[in-house]
Amino acid sequence: MGGRVVVVGAVNVDLVVAAERLPGPGETVVGPRVEHFGGGKGANAAVAAARAGADVLLIGAVGADDTGRAALDELRGEGVRVDGVAVLDGVPTGVALIVVDAAGENQIAVGAGANAGVERDQVRAALVDALPHTDCVLVSTEIPLAAVVVAVETATAVGVPCVLNPAPVLPGLAGLLVPRPGLHGPLLTPNVGELAALTGPGPTGVRAVGLAARTEAPVVVTLGGEGALVVEPGGMVEHLPPRPTTVCDTTGAGDTFNGVFAAQLAAGAGLLDAARAANVAAALSVAQVGARGGMPSAELIAASM
Ligand code: RIB
Repeated sequence: MGGRVVVVGAVNVDLVVAAERLPGPGETVVGPRVEHFGGGKGANAAVAAARAGADVLLIGAVGADDTGRAALDELRGEGVRVDGVAVLDGVPTGVALIVVDAAGENQIAVGAGANAGVERDQVRAALVDALPHTDCVLVSTEIPLAAVVVAVETATAVGVPCVLNPAPVLPGLAGLLVPRPGLHGPLLTPNVGELAALTGPGPTGVRAVGLAARTEAPVVVTLGGEGALVVEPGGMVEHLPPRPTTVCDTTGAGDTFNGVFAAQLAAGAGLLDAARAANVAAALSVAQVGARGGMPSAELIAASM
């Protein structure tokens, strides 16, 4: 029986061009075609958690347009409940423009559209309804800071485990990372660049240990092709090595990590076991095109451990 996860974050459509290499400033690169995929860090993580066996509710926003309706249909088809997704008049659904190079590396620019309209009160109301039946809340930050803050504060105030994926690092986000008496801070899952943006310069391990001490909560740093680093506030550090994989498209690998991590925590796994499963799932996810193309099922994750 899977656990119950609430994901708060963005919903996009991804317009993807596969090109030999990524463009430099002012440069044009040409690929054979544009492909459309479901995207958005929140929606992607919700799909990853659902495929990993969790019962998932998504909170976010789309525009009242064909793109938004198609995005919601696709999410329902994945078993994600979308009653927390507002359908907003007069704004388009979020769009991500993505170039993927021959090595699977990507470059992404997002037009936020409806994601910029995710409101504090919407998030609070949806979470207050859902939290009595929720085992883990996952928040990512392609939505306004006020919505992120209320999501983290509402979850942590009632002691529901909260994972905060600071992707991207919003101005002002660091203010949320100060523990308050009696409350657990959010468990952070930055990549190396996001960790640097939160902590300033220095070796990755040292900065992660410092951040975990500051937030009094674990920090899990995703290291791309080098696996992941799990750091507990007491100073325990464990490196999870990468699983060998064929890299086709790294888009959505972090979202897969976060969705599977939240699903595992919700199902009762400990920190290290949840991160191990997420690390394996992220490696499996990069073997196919599209943010969600390679996201594995619970069975495939288990068979690949
Ligand atoms: O993390 C990958 C995602 O980032 C893409 O799906 C794109 O929509 C952007 O939000």
